[in-house]
This record gives sequence, C-alpha cells and structure tokens, in this order.
Amino acid sequence: MADRYATFTRTGPGRFLTRRLGLPQPAALHRWSPERPAIEGPLLLMTAGDIPLPGLHESLTRTGTPPHTGPLGSRRPAAVVLDATGVATVTALADVHAALHPVVRSITPSGRVLVLGAPLSPADHHQAAAQQALEGFVRSLGREIGRGRTVQLVRTPSASAAEAPLRFLLSPKSAYVSGQVIDVDDTTAAAAADAEAPAAADSAARPLAGRTALVTGAARGIGTAVAEVLARDGAHVVVLDVPSAAQDLHRVAEHLQGTALPLDITADDAGERIAAALPDGLGVLVHNAGITRDRRFANMAADRWSSVVEVNLASVLRTTDFLLKSGTLRRGSRVVATASIAGLAGNAGQTNYAASKAGVVGFVRSLAPRALAEHGVTVNAVAPGFIETRMTAAVPLFLREAGRRMNSLGQGGLPVDVAEATAWLATGAVNGQVLRVCGQSLLGA
Ligand SMILES: NC(=O)c1ccc[n+]([C@@H]2O[C@H](COP(=O)([O-])OP(=O)(O)OC[C@H]3O[C@@H](n4cnc5c(N)ncnc54)[C@H](O)[C@@H]3O)[C@@H](O)[C@H]2O)c1
Repeated sequence: MADRYATFTRTGPGRFLTRRLGLPQPAALHRWSPERPAIEGPLLLMTAGDIPLPGLHESLTRTGTPPHTGPLGSRRPAAVVLDATGVATVTALADVHAALHPVVRSITPSGRVLVLGAPLSPADHHQAAAQQALEGFVRSLGREIGRGRTVQLVRTPSASAAEAPLRFLLSPKSAYVSGQVIDVDDTTAAAAADAEAPAAADSAARPLAGRTALVTGAARGIGTAVAEVLARDGAHVVVLDVPSAAQDLHRVAEHLQGTALPLDITADDAGERIAAALPDGLGVLVHNAGITRDRRFANMAADRWSSVVEVNLASVLRTTDFLLKSGTLRRGSRVVATASIAGLAGNAGQTNYAASKAGVVGFVRSLAPRALAEHGVTVNAVAPGFIETRMTAAVPLFLREAGRRMNSLGQGGLPVDVAEATAWLATGAVNGQVLRVCGQSLLGA
C-alpha cells in the first residue's frame, strides 16, 4: 500500500535520479499534528479591485494567523490571501496578476494561495465574467504551482461567512485539498453559529465537544480515520460496520472510547436500529460505508449493479430520511456523505460505482437547502480522489500508479485527509457543498 516511489524520490539517490530523468518528485506534505498544528510562516493579505472586504483582517486574525499587509523583508510567505471580492470588471483582473505574480514563486513548500471571490451577480454580467475568471485562474495555478502548495477559491458575501473555510484551508488539515471552489453564504454561517452543541464547543481545538457522531463503514480504512478525527475533535463516536467486521469494529470503538454498532446499513430496519441506539439524538452522521464491484458495463451482472447502488446510495437516502423523520437528526445536526471523483468524472469499469456516487451528489445538492430550512440540519459531501486504502491497494499496479500521480500533488491522499475534510464539514459551516479531497485530480476537473 505504501507509495514506494514517493519515498524513493525523497532519498539522496532518488532525488538525483528523478531530477536527471525529469520524473515527478511528489513533495512531502505538511499534515496536521499536535506538534505542528499550523502553517509555519507569515500570511500575506493582498487586495485586487477597488473595494476590500470589510472585516477581513479581523476574521483572519481570529483564525489564528494574523495577516501582514506590507513587505515581508527576507521572509517568505507560507500563505497568501488575495481579496478579489471587489473585482467587478474584466479590467480589474489585471490587479490579480499584479498582486500575485511578484510573490507566487516565494511561497514556501506546502504553502497556500487562497483567493476570495464574490458570489456571481445574476444582474451584472461584467461582474460575473470577472468573478468566474477567478475560478479558471485558481484551478490553473493549482496545476502549476508545485512543491505541495495548494490554491483555492472561496466565494463569499462577507468576511464572517468566509472565516470557517479560511480556518480550514489555511491549516495543515487541508494538505491534500487543492484547486477547489467553496461557496459560502451568510445564512448557513449564522445557522451554524446558532446551533452550537448543548455543552457548547469547549474550544477551537475540540469543535465537536458534546456531540455524538455516527460513522458507517468504520471498521477500517477511511471510516476508521474519520472516527479517529471526530473523536480528536471532541465527539463521542458510534462506529458502525457489517457484523462480519465486528471484531475490528470493537477494537476501533474501544480505542476511541466510543460505541460499536455492528449492523448492515442495507438492512430494512437500519434506520430504526440507529435511532434506537441514539435516543438523545445524533450530532453528526457520516455516510462512509461503500463498496466497489467493478466490471465493464457489458459484462456486469445485475447483482453487481444493484449491490453497489444499494450500499453506496439507497441506504444513504433511506437512513437519512428515517433519521430526519424520527427527529434523531435535529436542529444543529450535520450530515456528511461520501461521494467520489469517479462520480464526477466517470471511470471505465465503474458504471455502477460512479452512478451511486453521482447519486450522492444529487442527494446532497437537493436535500441541503430544505434540510437546513426545515430541520436546521446541514448536508454536505466529501469526494475523495485516490486515497491509500485497502480499496485502492486492490487496484492493478499500473492503474494504481496512474491514480497516484494524476493529480497536482503527484501522490495519493491518506485516509486522514478525507477525515479532516469530513470533520470540517461536520462543523456545519457550509451547506450543500461537495468538497473534493483529491490533490486536484485530473479526473473530472
Ligand atoms: N479509497 C479511495 O481511494 C476512495 C476514493 C473515493 C471514495 N472512496 C469512498 O470512501 C469510503 C470508504 O472507502 P475505503 O477506501 O475506506 O473502503 P474500505 O473498503 O476500506 O472500507 C469500507 C468499509 O465499509 C464497510 N461496509 C461495506 N458495506 C457495508 C454495509 N452494507 N454496512 C455497513 N458497513 C459496510 C466495509 O465493511 C468496510 O469496513 C467509501 O464510500 C468509498 O467509496 C474511497
């Protein structure tokens, strides 16, 4: 499962050889750890366009990284935030170039470029053209910036609504997220702030304190990592997996001082069983359980099709509907589903899997606004790219190597990368978003 090529390129001879041969040299990413919890180095704040976003300086300071607005002298920025919310004409796009061009080279490895944009105006096509241009710019800079550095666009109506995405995107927790566009709005941000857990989150370090979180498919792989990160963030975790995985499941539960719930999520009464196990309600529901049964469509028997759709999609809809109806999911609860870039891009041999994962995206986009308005519940999805797990270890070597390298960071992600994004979505800061955790994969870009 280990990425031996990436390990080799970080040795002396490996560095020499790969440079000589012009082969990719995937950077060692700076991921979150208690010892290195923040990006290391100054944050530079710049503005493009005429009107800066009011309160942005204060918002950035609250994220824990007070910005510099003047020259940094000999120091290199670890992050650059460009406030481009005021770019309302195509002419003003020149400011984007003028601001970033002189500094882009100097950003430290694993550093960040974060562009703030404004929501596209339906009434002003000049503003919409200029703001949409930022998306193409960000996605392209992400492709070429290299050295583990990432580039994102956050479209926001205000500094306060952007605060939660800034906190995540400026931290090492988002190391494998690049080339993404996140849309935030004031309503969701306010609803999330309103719906703090009863024993209010005790600090920024434990944002899920006082909450119960259920993770399906948590006996191994990404699900275990999600449970670990949610527990680290203060949640009491209930881990669910098929009864045949009960031994591993109990081990995970014990390690996290959580509760094991051996249950096949496709069972007709799965919703009832979950509701019965959680009489005090559920703060966070993570639909992570998933299977693949790959075959070219022409060779695919009906049971391969239906088993994948049943586990990955039908059970997600059935349990969510039941838990909303039963009030187990209630004001302040958050749902995070697991899609996949295969569902966005399509993948040969995976018509069943891609259909199920695209279905997850449809489910999120349609339910999110209604769930928030009617129940005070946010609904989002993560869409992982190539993640180093048993699922991808089973992929034939050539395809596995292609999957690892075909992204802007030149390497596969780790389960913890998906877990960090899931934990962030579980804070309820955004709604109806599909956040890719794929190192900016070339697939479905
Ligand atoms: N690994 C990747 O690269 C990748 C990429 C994109 C999306 N994903 C998605 O991420 C999720 C986790 O993937 P993973 O790589 O950790 O997979 P995995 O196969 O290692 O783990 C999946 C877990 O789900 C459980 N599960 C399967 N069917 C179940 C059911 N009916 N009821 C309860 N539990 C069930 C399995 O027992 C297993 O423990 C899946 O939804 C997968 O589709 C993974």
